[in-house]
Amino acid sequence: MDATTRRSDAWFHDPDMYGFVRRAFAKSMGYDDADLARPIIGIAQTQSDLNNCNNNFDELAEYVKRGVWQAGGTPLEFPTISLGELFMKPTTMLWRNLMAMDTEEMIRAHPLDAVVLLGNCDKTVPAQMMGAASANVPALILTGGPHLSGRFRGQSLGACSDCRRFWAEYRAGTLSEEALCEVEDGINRSDGHCTVMGTASTMAAIAEGLGWALPYNAAIPAPDARRLRLAEAAGRRSVAMASGGIRPSDILTQNSFENAIRLMMALGGSTNAVIHLTAVAGRRGIQLPLELFDRISRETPFLTNLQPSGAFHMEQLHEAGGVPAVMKELARGGLLHLEERTITGQTIGQVLERVAPLGASAADGTGWCGPDRIVYPLEQPIDTEGGIAVLRGNLAPGGAVIKQTAMSAHLRKHRGRAVVYAGAADLAHKIDDPSLDVTADSVLVLQNAGPKGAPGMPEAGSLPIPKKLLAAGVRDMLRISDARMSGTAFGAVVLHVTPEAAVGGPLGLVRDGDWIEVDVGARRLHLEVSDEELARRRSEWQPPSSLRQARGYSRLYVDHVLQADQGADFDFLVGGDA
Ligand code: FES
Repeated sequence: MDATTRRSDAWFHDPDMYGFVRRAFAKSMGYDDADLARPIIGIAQTQSDLNNCNNNFDELAEYVKRGVWQAGGTPLEFPTISLGELFMKPTTMLWRNLMAMDTEEMIRAHPLDAVVLLGNCDKTVPAQMMGAASANVPALILTGGPHLSGRFRGQSLGACSDCRRFWAEYRAGTLSEEALCEVEDGINRSDGHCTVMGTASTMAAIAEGLGWALPYNAAIPAPDARRLRLAEAAGRRSVAMASGGIRPSDILTQNSFENAIRLMMALGGSTNAVIHLTAVAGRRGIQLPLELFDRISRETPFLTNLQPSGAFHMEQLHEAGGVPAVMKELARGGLLHLEERTITGQTIGQVLERVAPLGASAADGTGWCGPDRIVYPLEQPIDTEGGIAVLRGNLAPGGAVIKQTAMSAHLRKHRGRAVVYAGAADLAHKIDDPSLDVTADSVLVLQNAGPKGAPGMPEAGSLPIPKKLLAAGVRDMLRISDARMSGTAFGAVVLHVTPEAAVGGPLGLVRDGDWIEVDVGARRLHLEVSDEELARRRSEWQPPSSLRQARGYSRLYVDHVLQADQGADFDFLVGGDA
């Protein structure tokens, strides 16, 4: 390719003084004229000692660089913000948009002809997708991979679905402190993101579904040498992309988003992905209304036996054929847009032609659907509908979501009296109060935990079961909030209620003792309070203090964050190219 057509030429081959100065300063780092004449490949690095899930990226970046050099490019690694789910308070979601801005601006500001995005933990991949979608420089996603399945007394554990399960047993008094310590030692035993079909796994799979990552990227475990070889291949591919000019706008289309939604429904993916995908699409000016998610969910069989909806982990999914095996099944049923382009240079259909159909073994057999099966055939799905249902009603005029594959079946249609918490502090104060008026049939309601209300929309939606109910053997009950929930969680949890309580949504008008009805099959969420009474309560309603942030990023966030059904992006970041 003619060197004058490259983006990096505007930096290194600028005929003005700054071209000369930039070359001189690059040479101070050991790069010569030949290096600067090659395609320049950025590696967006998110290695951080404060993010365990991204802890293999120094090594992975070295393999990406090998691939870039092999293919005739020059790799340049640069840092961005890294968001580690477990070590940030109050919630990483507060900074997803900040990381997206960081990623977008660093790509746009630098002499990069293509970028390899190294993300892994929950918010890092969506943030990179959003930023790269806006920057619209050729980019591919390389995730760090899931960690190995955990170990405890002969059981295979999945973080963090089993973190929550064992913690509930500990709270109930059915698991000893000694056993809990053993779980703590064995549940997460390697680099990598959570190994269940939580948000990180869902977003990594979606990267494949969008055609934005190399096939098999999502499920190869982090410590597996096959991921190192994949990183090297990603480096080589990025050089071809720099020359071939496949930009995010070429692969992020209405149809590719529909493919990604289809895939997440077949996988039982995280509810968080509804928000993230909506935000990524919004960066390209594409709208994904909640009705689209619901329609695709109704049309898509649930095929994948992974925690928290099933039994297995990403490590086993890879051995059963990975995400391509699931996509192959969807394609076989005519459920994917096969003509969509991918970063491989081929269409989705061409990529899937090379994928073997499901075989006949216990791990992947079409003729055998016992409990050890991981990817189910279309003809014998685990469930006829996909993982997520969208609910509407007078309690959520803008919609709400529930993960119908990861909840107790008896709660899909339920009516109960509300037990209301006005926010996270109120919840912490009251949840284990022995005098709390709550039964297994109650509906726990959390207010003011949405994008503006918390602020940051934390994963607080999976409210803990009150201790006295745990002790009585209750392990699931209906919960409703404007918060999010970890993709690793199991439970009858209605999330993302829109509009949120903090902006005057009806959720903020619920009072203790109100009757609430949820019917997942009918997609209904109803508060049995008259319009007159709701109007009276609204006249007394006061916005929470969270809306009055004094300064800094929190103020920017609260002033500009959109509601969950619009992806919780900033209003000034939505749209196509700058
Ligand atoms: Fe990073 Fe679960 S804590 S993916």
